[in-house]
Amino acid sequence: MPSVVTAMLGALDVREGMRVLEVGTGTGWNAGLMAHRLGPDRVVSVEIDAAVAAQARAALARAGLEPEVVHGDGYEGWAAGAPYDRVIVTAGVREVSPHWLAQARPGGVLLAPWGSHYSDQDALVRLTRAPDGSASGPFLRMVEFMKLRAQRLDWDRFGGHVTSFPGDARVSSTTVVLPDLGGRYDAARFVAGLCMRDCAHVVNETERGGARAWFFDLRSRSWAAAEFHPDAPEATVYQRGARRLWAEVENALTWWADQGRPGVERFGLTVAPDGGTTPWLGEPGNVLPDYAAG
Ligand SMILES: C[S@@+](CC[C@H](N)C(=O)[O-])C[C@H]1O[C@@H](n2cnc3c(N)ncnc32)[C@H](O)[C@@H]1O
Repeated sequence: MPSVVTAMLGALDVREGMRVLEVGTGTGWNAGLMAHRLGPDRVVSVEIDAAVAAQARAALARAGLEPEVVHGDGYEGWAAGAPYDRVIVTAGVREVSPHWLAQARPGGVLLAPWGSHYSDQDALVRLTRAPDGSASGPFLRMVEFMKLRAQRLDWDRFGGHVTSFPGDARVSSTTVVLPDLGGRYDAARFVAGLCMRDCAHVVNETERGGARAWFFDLRSRSWAAAEFHPDAPEATVYQRGARRLWAEVENALTWWADQGRPGVERFGLTVAPDGGTTPWLGEPGNVLPDYAAG
């Protein structure tokens, strides 16, 4: 963890005289590095777990570094210390808090591991805060962080989606193969999540080396499943509900292939002052398709 966090610090570009807010104190390592560089009175770090916050405070004191460690919900930021030149979030987020934007200075930078609920993947995003309270910037690299509390996906919410399998689901076939869906740090998976809002997916192994990929809508009970077998030329697809989730997967993968399969660092994100997100490719005006919108 320290190596990823230290790499994040490089991307954050903290300089003398700046004030920094960190969300997720953890061990205190990162807060300690920043306090060493900027001075303890310029760094505030918020940790939701009281015991973890106390341990970090003690460890930092032993090292002779005493940034302000606050026990609280970092989603709220820490208004008492605002405005900040830099906001660094060291937990994976599914939502950029409007408080972080409001507490950053215009021109300030917000760095966070951000992703959609499609998977556990995060990509480090470096947002620059505009005078109107929005923020925009590129993704830098794939990472995977422990998620911010309250932004973790509760899989129990899908308990009522598949009442019988396959039941009356529509059945079709596909030439998409399992690797096309992308692995843990692959852009294919991340980009599908950008183009398919409010969808979660998981891949389970099945008998004889097969796999079933599940897709669940977060807003309705629509679901889809694709069954892959190593000895079958095509996978079997099941879809149920108003949202055709497998059709969206195919659309997203086709769109990404048509763009030349760009890596995650070619993409970026714009965040409105209320936290609404718009992903883009190359430049902020080139907005990604949103297949959930139809
Ligand atoms: C990956 S660790 C942070 C690493 C840390 N920056 C370091 O240098 O060791 C993520 C931390 O975020 C904390 N966390 C999770 N949700 C939070 C929230 N809503 N507000 C503040 N901290 C939170 C966790 O308790 C955990 O300590």
